[in-house]
Amino acid sequence: MKIAVIGGGNIGGVLIQEIVRRRLARYVSLVDVKGPDLSKGKCLDIAEGAPIISSDVVVEGAKEYDVIAGADLVINTAGVPRAARPDGTIPTREELLATNLKITDAVSEGISKFCPKAIVISIANPLDAIVYRLNMNLKPSRERLMGMAGVLDSSRYRYFVAKEAGVSLENVEAIVLGGHGDDMLPIRSACRIAGMPVEKFVTAEKLDAIEARTRQAGGEVVKLLGSGSAFVSPAWAALEMAEAIIYDKKKIMPVCTQLKGEYGVDGLFIGVPVVLGAKGIEKIIVMDLTEKEKEAFAKSIASVKKSSDEVLSVAK
Ligand code: APR
Repeated sequence: MKIAVIGGGNIGGVLIQEIVRRRLARYVSLVDVKGPDLSKGKCLDIAEGAPIISSDVVVEGAKEYDVIAGADLVINTAGVPRAARPDGTIPTREELLATNLKITDAVSEGISKFCPKAIVISIANPLDAIVYRLNMNLKPSRERLMGMAGVLDSSRYRYFVAKEAGVSLENVEAIVLGGHGDDMLPIRSACRIAGMPVEKFVTAEKLDAIEARTRQAGGEVVKLLGSGSAFVSPAWAALEMAEAIIYDKKKIMPVCTQLKGEYGVDGLFIGVPVVLGAKGIEKIIVMDLTEKEKEAFAKSIASVKKSSDEVLSVAK
C-alpha cells in the first residue's frame, strides 16, 4: 500500500506525520511545489525521527509529482488560502477560485500521469468546487473520488453536544449533511447519545445554538489563529476515511460524493452518508429526512449547484 499526500502545508504536514505514526502504509509520499523543497524537508524531518517511534514506513517528499507514482490512495490538500498579496490587496472569491482550480488542474495532471487508479480523498477548499473539478478532469468511477467535510463537521457537532450534555464524546453519534458551507445540515434526528435521542440530554434551544456554531466552526478557528485555518481536525477526519478504506471497514460516515439520482440530485457532489471500504464509496445511504430537513437540504444543494456552475464557467 502506498499513500500519496498532495500539498505539504499545515494539513499535509499532519497527514504525513500521522500516517507514519499509525503505520497506515508501507510507503508514503508527499508532493508540494513550494521551494526550496518543502516536502522533502518535512519528510526528512519525519524520517529522521522514525527510529525513535520504531516506525519503518518509507517516507519520501519531492517537488516533482513522480514521487506519487503507483499510489493506491491520494489525499489532496493543495491550494492557496485567502490572504493579502504582497501589495496589500486581497483577491476576490472568484480570483481565489480561479487560482485554486488551476492548482487542481495541476494536481489532476499528476494523478492521471502517475497513479490513475488511486482512490482520491480531497480536502482542499472550496471543497465542493474542487471535488467537482477533479471529477471533470479525472473522470474516475464514482467509488474512487470523494471529498472530506462531513466527518469533520460531524466531529465538531459531536464535540459541542458532548460538552453541553456533560457526557463522554465517545457516547455521541452525529451526522452532518450537505455542502461544506454555511448551510450544511446537522441532522438532529440522527444525533444520539448512547443510542438515545439527543433531546433527552440537551434542550432544543441549546441544540439550535450548537448547530449554528457547527456551521460557523471553521471560521471560529480561523479567527482565533489569525492566519491559516484548522489543520489537525481536518487531517484526522481525512484519516478516518482513509482507515476505513485501507482496512476495508465498511464504515458509515458522511462523505462528499457524486449523487446520481439519490436525494433527487443528479451529478453534483454533496455530503451524504456512505459505506466506505476497500473499493472506496461502496454504497450511498439515503436517509429519511423530515420536511424541515428536506427544505434545508434543498437550500444546501442550491448553493453547491451555484459553486459547481462557477467551476464550469472558469475556463481550463
Ligand atoms: N501541487 C502541490 N502542492 C501545491 C500546489 C500544487 N500545484 N499548489 C499549492 N500547493 C501547496 C502549497 O505550496 C501549500 O504548501 O499546498 C499547500 C497548502 O498548504 P496550506 O496553505 O498550509 O493550507 P492547509 O492549512 O494545509 O489547507 C489546505 O485544505 O482545508 C483546506 O482551506 C484549506 O484549501 C486549504 C487546504
